[in-house]
Amino acid sequence: MLILAIETSCDETAAAVVRNGAEVLSNVIASQIDIHRVTNGVVPEVAAREHTKQLPYIYQQALSEAKVTMNEIDAIAATESPGLIGSLLVGMQTARTLALVHNKKYIPINHINGHVFSNWLERDASEIEFPVVTLTVSGGHTDLYLVDQDLRPHKLGQTLDDAAGEAFDKVAKMLGLAYPGGPAIASLAAQGDKLRFPFPEAKTDQPLDFSFSGIKTSVLYRIRDLGGELDQKTKADIAASFQATVTKTLAKKLLAAAKKYRAKQIHLAGGVSANQHLRELLLELKPNDTALLYPKQISYCTDNAAMIAAAAFAEERINS
Ligand code: KG4
Ligand code: ZN
Repeated sequence: MLILAIETSCDETAAAVVRNGAEVLSNVIASQIDIHRVTNGVVPEVAAREHTKQLPYIYQQALSEAKVTMNEIDAIAATESPGLIGSLLVGMQTARTLALVHNKKYIPINHINGHVFSNWLERDASEIEFPVVTLTVSGGHTDLYLVDQDLRPHKLGQTLDDAAGEAFDKVAKMLGLAYPGGPAIASLAAQGDKLRFPFPEAKTDQPLDFSFSGIKTSVLYRIRDLGGELDQKTKADIAASFQATVTKTLAKKLLAAAKKYRAKQIHLAGGVSANQHLRELLLELKPNDTALLYPKQISYCTDNAAMIAAAAFAEERINS
């Protein structure tokens, strides 16, 4: 089954062609990062207008890179929620219109489900062993899911306030680093001392929920206590200490969920799953009989349309 998928929930205009939910024939992503860097974050109105400009070219590029024509496509999928409403509307209306004009099936997809199925990309179905516990962690969400043979993700926990990626972005801003903050914090943290600033880990009533607004405030107060103007070493130590605390919380909760639900595999997904420190920590802490999977490519961690096609294929399997 050949699926053309479109993703425009935030600041990436993306289209992909994927065979059977795994074989990526094309995965085109037009990033708006340079535009949003000017405002140090995404302005929703600007993002939506940019999608309108880019998408007609991007979906055609996805078809031509995949070397397929619209005739060969079996279904068209698009992200319908959650995300910036103006941005989502551009993608979903384009996909619905294309489906109508070309007489194709239309499959609406939840963006987080897309992240969950990003680990199916470039893998044989037999490589996925159930039950799976997935941590989807990015700038807009931090959730834990249980996925079993029925391929219906079941939510186990979520953030009560900020997403982990959002905390990375905000702390990066405090340290005067460029947008997006995650990769900038990660590279600065590599030169820092993670033990210098012991930031507190948040407590939540439900053990599988998350909270990251407290650590953001702790970093803000610490910077204020240090007198505002920070030298490079202090910035690196703050980045390393912050990253260590956030990744420790993510790893602990993911492993607690895996233990509770006797997961055969743990999966990382979403923009923050690109974080090397988080991957290494999980490899170090996980039990030997639990496999760790993360997306095969960094471009499958951050927002992309190939994962939307993977989720659409799973949806088709559920309904067939
Ligand atoms: O999945 P994504 O592209 O978009 C959302 O759905 O939000 O994730 C983007 C988020 C941003 O907050 C970015 O700072 C974070 O993922 N991120 C990282 C890394 N790369 C991207 N966070 C930590 N370490 C990284 N290496
Ligand atoms: Zn995302």
